[in-house]
Amino acid sequence: MKTFRYLFAAATAIILVSFKKPDPLPLYKNKSASIESRVNDLLKRMTLDEKVMQLSQYTLGLNDNENNINDLSKGFDPHAGSLIYFGSDPLFRNAVQKKAVEETRLGIPILFGFDIIHGCKTLYPIPLAVGCSWNTELNREACSNSAKETYLSGINWTFSPMVDVARDPRWGRVAEGYGEDPYTGAQFGASAVRGYQGQSLSAPNNIAACLKHYLAYGLVEGGRDYSFTDVSQQLLQDTYLVSFKAGVKAGASTVMSSFNDISGTPSTINKYLLTDILKTQWGFKGFVVADWDAIAQLMNQGVAKDPEQAGERALNAGLDMDMLSDIYRKYIPDLLKQKKITMATVDEAVRRVLTLKFKLGLFDNPYTPVVAESQRYLQPETKKTANQLAAESMVLLKNKDNILPISGSIKSLAIIGPMVNDSTDLMGSWTGRANAKDVESINSALRGEFSGKLQLNYAHGCDFDGKDDSGFDVAINAAKNSDEVVLFLGEKNSWSGENTSRSTIALPEIQERLVAAIKKTGKPIIIVLINGRPLALKNIEPDADAILEAWQPGTVGATAITGILSGRINPSGKLDITFPLTTGQIPVYYDMHPRARPYLGNYQDIPTEPLYWFGYGLSYTTYNYSDVKLSSTKIKKTEHLIAKVEVDNTGKIDGKEAVLWYIAHPEATISRPRKELKFFEKKLIKKGEKIVYTFDLDPERDLSYPDASGKQILESGDYYLMVGSQKVKFEVTD
Ligand code: BGC
Repeated sequence: MKTFRYLFAAATAIILVSFKKPDPLPLYKNKSASIESRVNDLLKRMTLDEKVMQLSQYTLGLNDNENNINDLSKGFDPHAGSLIYFGSDPLFRNAVQKKAVEETRLGIPILFGFDIIHGCKTLYPIPLAVGCSWNTELNREACSNSAKETYLSGINWTFSPMVDVARDPRWGRVAEGYGEDPYTGAQFGASAVRGYQGQSLSAPNNIAACLKHYLAYGLVEGGRDYSFTDVSQQLLQDTYLVSFKAGVKAGASTVMSSFNDISGTPSTINKYLLTDILKTQWGFKGFVVADWDAIAQLMNQGVAKDPEQAGERALNAGLDMDMLSDIYRKYIPDLLKQKKITMATVDEAVRRVLTLKFKLGLFDNPYTPVVAESQRYLQPETKKTANQLAAESMVLLKNKDNILPISGSIKSLAIIGPMVNDSTDLMGSWTGRANAKDVESINSALRGEFSGKLQLNYAHGCDFDGKDDSGFDVAINAAKNSDEVVLFLGEKNSWSGENTSRSTIALPEIQERLVAAIKKTGKPIIIVLINGRPLALKNIEPDADAILEAWQPGTVGATAITGILSGRINPSGKLDITFPLTTGQIPVYYDMHPRARPYLGNYQDIPTEPLYWFGYGLSYTTYNYSDVKLSSTKIKKTEHLIAKVEVDNTGKIDGKEAVLWYIAHPEATISRPRKELKFFEKKLIKKGEKIVYTFDLDPERDLSYPDASGKQILESGDYYLMVGSQKVKFEVTD
């Protein structure tokens, strides 16, 4: 009887349960609903605390960024909007994500971000080098490959690309961007965004990009990091906004505000930049993240009396996510009570953050697929792209009597310098999750390249810096016992990147003295430079027969260097940044404005010309440019001008030639730069073959320029088109 009663009760319970209406799936969890409706639904369900947490970013793991020292953060709040993840273990990352998705009330996934600047485990050349390749498609491919390694490490968002125009090589962060020209920065930045984000953010292996640092960070006074910048409205429009606008157009998901104070209003609270231009004028739908602790630093910058006021100013300016300072979490509720900010502003910021999480598919697929490490990183195709990009990024600056490539008739080579046995310094700053043990040294690459062909006589010579010249004698002997000498010199990777300003950009004296000592042997000298900024080479250039700027070339860059030395690779890089003759020449960049007295105003003590201009770079082959052909010498503002130049490879080997097209408008209402790059294209030209390069000039896009308010002006009058050493005139009429 008892058993029967139990059975009866159990059956009734089952019937009742099955009649009870199941809880409907909340709209925000419905995969087939639109993102907009899912975000709106979720927002309605969120408490203020939950909202504020979405606007807050913290760290997770051992912080290995020495500029942002923090304690090891093992703990985390699963309600956090985002975590900067100092790790590459997808299992650990998934366990953290599980807490957010399964153990919080609404199950909002965490957005994992990290600085993957030029590669995750496989490092590509630094971005400053990449710009010298003039190969944006290769950059897209590189960023797509590094997105894959990043994604498989559990990171869904990189703080890259940096598209700051940088014209002061004292600033260590020149290494992180694409050089001095806004158009180049725009093209490479947009290709990086396309590479990271792919066709769809929610597809596996794609990650969200972040354009940084918005804005004019490259202009910090004296090249001192984190400093003040004074920038006119005209310069903002002409130079500094350009690459960001292109990145937004390419679909960048996020933007990072910069640390610098811009003419009195730090970017962190610059409503004009964050809201009026970025969000309103350009229609940017993503979110803006602060730079590291930047909201708290507003107090150092003298624009906030306390954290609360700092938070108020940042949020009201349009800064959506607080990186690290924890000010939004602590003060937004009070600021709302005091009516210093509105709920609509908070909601708008949260909406932007949630939208990206939905777009990335994090609500529907919050976990990272776990793939064996051997298939995750350093894959052959990834290394191949990295190697090609390194090769195309290197710039041959000098090649007296064609001493390079190294001739088959020489028997021995001295290989000297602090860089020969080094791996770490080939990596550059921001090493992602890479290890020096995966980076091939120059010594090992040289032995692979020349084994059986040349005797290699190694000597360390000297360290990167310091006064110790006790290695000079051994180096001199190695040089004396060899037919030619290659000196591998440059900067340690900790000398460029963030917080690495230098007051002089020449090589340290000890390295210059080594060059002079070797010169005395009378042996031909080839200098290979590994560095993260343009160097002032005045003291060593005269002693060198050849100079190869190899930059910091990344994991497989060493074999690109040795390939160029041996002639297996024909160099094709051209500078994306000018090399001043001395530090005192700074600023010097190709698109300076014309002077009132072009023939006067020169320095009395040094030449006024830099050593190597933007766009400069040699090849092992020779190219002949035909006369430029224009579709017309007179066009209406609404008509295109088609310009063609035929480039003939007249040398003995195949080569890749980047053709750079510039315009000049010397009778403008507001003075224009002496010349402005408007288009570039790089193509392979086989020996003995000719290729036509075409520039389809659209006056609206290529000849108009902004006034200080951003309004585009297109003027009639005389213009010049420049390519190679040619300059042709054409007229634009109404
Ligand atoms: C740098 C950013 C970087 C951030 C997070 C800051 O110090 O300026 O470029 O993305 O740290 O690591």
